[in-house]
Amino acid sequence: MQKEIKAFAPASIGNIGIGFDIMGLCIEHPGDEVIARLSNKPGLHIKAIHGGDALPLDPSKNTASVAVAHLLEHLGQSNRGIELEIFKKMPSGSGLGSSAASAVAAAVAVNALLESGLRKRDLLRFACLGEQVASGGFHADNVAPSLLGGIVLIRDNDSLDVHTLPAPEELFVAVVHPHVELLTKHAREILKPDLPLKTHIRQSANVASFVAALFNSDYDLLGRSLTDHVIEPQRASLIPGFYAVKAAAMEANALGCSISGAGPSIFALFKGVTDAEKAGLAMQKAFEKAGVSSTIYLSPVNRHGAVVF
Ligand code: HSE
Repeated sequence: MQKEIKAFAPASIGNIGIGFDIMGLCIEHPGDEVIARLSNKPGLHIKAIHGGDALPLDPSKNTASVAVAHLLEHLGQSNRGIELEIFKKMPSGSGLGSSAASAVAAAVAVNALLESGLRKRDLLRFACLGEQVASGGFHADNVAPSLLGGIVLIRDNDSLDVHTLPAPEELFVAVVHPHVELLTKHAREILKPDLPLKTHIRQSANVASFVAALFNSDYDLLGRSLTDHVIEPQRASLIPGFYAVKAAAMEANALGCSISGAGPSIFALFKGVTDAEKAGLAMQKAFEKAGVSSTIYLSPVNRHGAVVF
């Protein structure tokens, strides 16, 4: 049998509400898996995609293979025979960083397969280039947390100036995914390009305070900082029952609640697992009232990110 490596890359909460394209948080599950195999047939091929809805098998269109193609080019091995098998464990267009997770898992698997000696961090650009195929933008707010784990701040997406922030010990996440699809491309297209100065001041104060709260494990400040004045008001109407679901989370002691990535999933942060469990159910009920079924994911902050196993 040809040599093979399997990698897992977790879901992530892009933006964390207030940090559009510049912050992300890694959760434990769900996540995508990719098996990479050496093959006698030159070039990159996708053997199969298990799960997911009709994702492209064409290597030039799939986030996983595009990430790998950029890695191979960097290694000067573009013609190397490699076969990918992708196991989608979360839906696309969910706001859980699904396309990023596939790109990350594939890059990590092939990097290990070829024993290239590159560190995980070196794979960031390749995975972002892969994810770009699906999202239409070059931003690391899902790729970086999925790859590296933890809570990540991106000072600059072009140069990938990426920093891991401390995650308070008891921080817990509930993410509820309503079973409707919202394409990131569409959720980006509807955004206004400009911002009133007053809104900029309020938003940047919240982002800075959120970072301070993480450093000091100040859960109250963290909660006060989690109000998105920019993106949430523009995207809320794309998500059925958004304000009712958010109210349900806040009534169940959420520190804060907003849209996960480009949506439609909604996340809430908590101090401890107990409130997160209660809130998850309450949020699900609120979605139900809005006529949508949903799936609840509960997780501490995943501090490790993608792994080979
Ligand atoms: N920052 C991105 C957005 C996340 O909100 O559009 C989804 O890729």
